[in-house]
Amino acid sequence: MVATMSDAVPTSAPRASEIVDRFGRSFNYLRLSLIERCNLRCVYCMPEEGMNFKEAPELLTTAEIDRLIRMAASFGVDKVRLTGGEPLLRRDIIEIVHNAATTEGIAGVALTTNGVLLERLAGSLCDAGLSAINISLDTLKAERFAQITRRLRLEDVKRGIDAALSASFAQIKLNVVAMRGFNDDEIVDFVRLADDKRLTVRFIELMPFDADQIWKRGRFFGAERIKQVLLQHFSDLESDSGSSTEAHVFRRRGAKGKLAIIPAYTRDICRDCNRIRITADGKIRNCLFSNQEFDLRDAMRAGADDAALGKILCQAMLEKPVDGWAAQRQDDVSATDPRTSMTQIGG
Ligand code: GTP
Ligand code: 5AD
Ligand code: SF4
Repeated sequence: MVATMSDAVPTSAPRASEIVDRFGRSFNYLRLSLIERCNLRCVYCMPEEGMNFKEAPELLTTAEIDRLIRMAASFGVDKVRLTGGEPLLRRDIIEIVHNAATTEGIAGVALTTNGVLLERLAGSLCDAGLSAINISLDTLKAERFAQITRRLRLEDVKRGIDAALSASFAQIKLNVVAMRGFNDDEIVDFVRLADDKRLTVRFIELMPFDADQIWKRGRFFGAERIKQVLLQHFSDLESDSGSSTEAHVFRRRGAKGKLAIIPAYTRDICRDCNRIRITADGKIRNCLFSNQEFDLRDAMRAGADDAALGKILCQAMLEKPVDGWAAQRQDDVSATDPRTSMTQIGG
């Protein structure tokens, strides 16, 4: 049976996580990046050429990933999201999902993908225990898709979305990065997708994480502006509930799916932050906007036991800044961040 849409992957733990910070937040949601490589080249994410992706020996192995998930679960993490880069490029993806889904304490395993390889993998991912899937798609027009991703894969992504809808994932979301003068005229079309499809369409603010800094060139389209556009065009929006990044959540009367807005840049979601991020090479980042890192991979490779890894994890999260603005202020600006793309930070 298909589970309900109402946040089927829990965002609050049945037992409180032991991983806490100085501001009363606790962390039950692990975002684990699996790879830096990607089969698209989105302009807001990375340049066409010259990315120095980390190769396999630097990335966490299947066994290291399993171990970190088990260790985090023993402290009360109950939700895992696999990200990248493009996580479906990992050859061990089905095994990783299966192991995560069968880890004691893990109630939901989710994945964020660009959808290009999803048509072939949706069924096996679902069978392996993947409960939720977020698919990135910024335009429904072929020419624009080629412009933004520098690749001709729109039809693959569309078939991937259909395959996800046919599989029995508890939850499916579409991530649409809103950009002024690029896809702001498609907001209404995206809203209509949620009328008869069982998915949440989410409009996301552009963030400053790309080498070319395209967000500085007038493309930014803020959450409040997106909300105005929705309210202007649709008089039947009812408030609904969603995950911790979704600041505004709506459902059109009678619609199968939902709509949400993520203020990824304006960051008025930090008070409820419940996330731990680990990069593909095994470093904890306690905030998306922080460039401070805590190394779990090298600790594991130097023989650290689970108690020592747990200590690194808890300390990293204890030091979490109050919000993404404070995190940015405390960044060591003298040391240029070696990670210039979302693929290296892990979306
Ligand atoms: P849910 O688990 O369904 O809430 O998904 P999510 O929104 O956490 O994950 P997803 O990987 O789909 O990311 C969607 C967008 O939200 C991306 O643009 C992310 O970079 C942004 N995002 C994810 N986590 C954070 C965060 O902790 N802070 C901020 N500011 N943005 C985030
Ligand atoms: N700004 C906003 N969202 C971004 N993503 C990648 N780079 C950026 C950026 N600079 C999104 C992708 C995907 C999610 C993981 O992050 O579109 O949906
Ligand atoms: Fe959490 Fe930092 Fe994102 Fe805010 S900006 S929601 S504190 S990771």
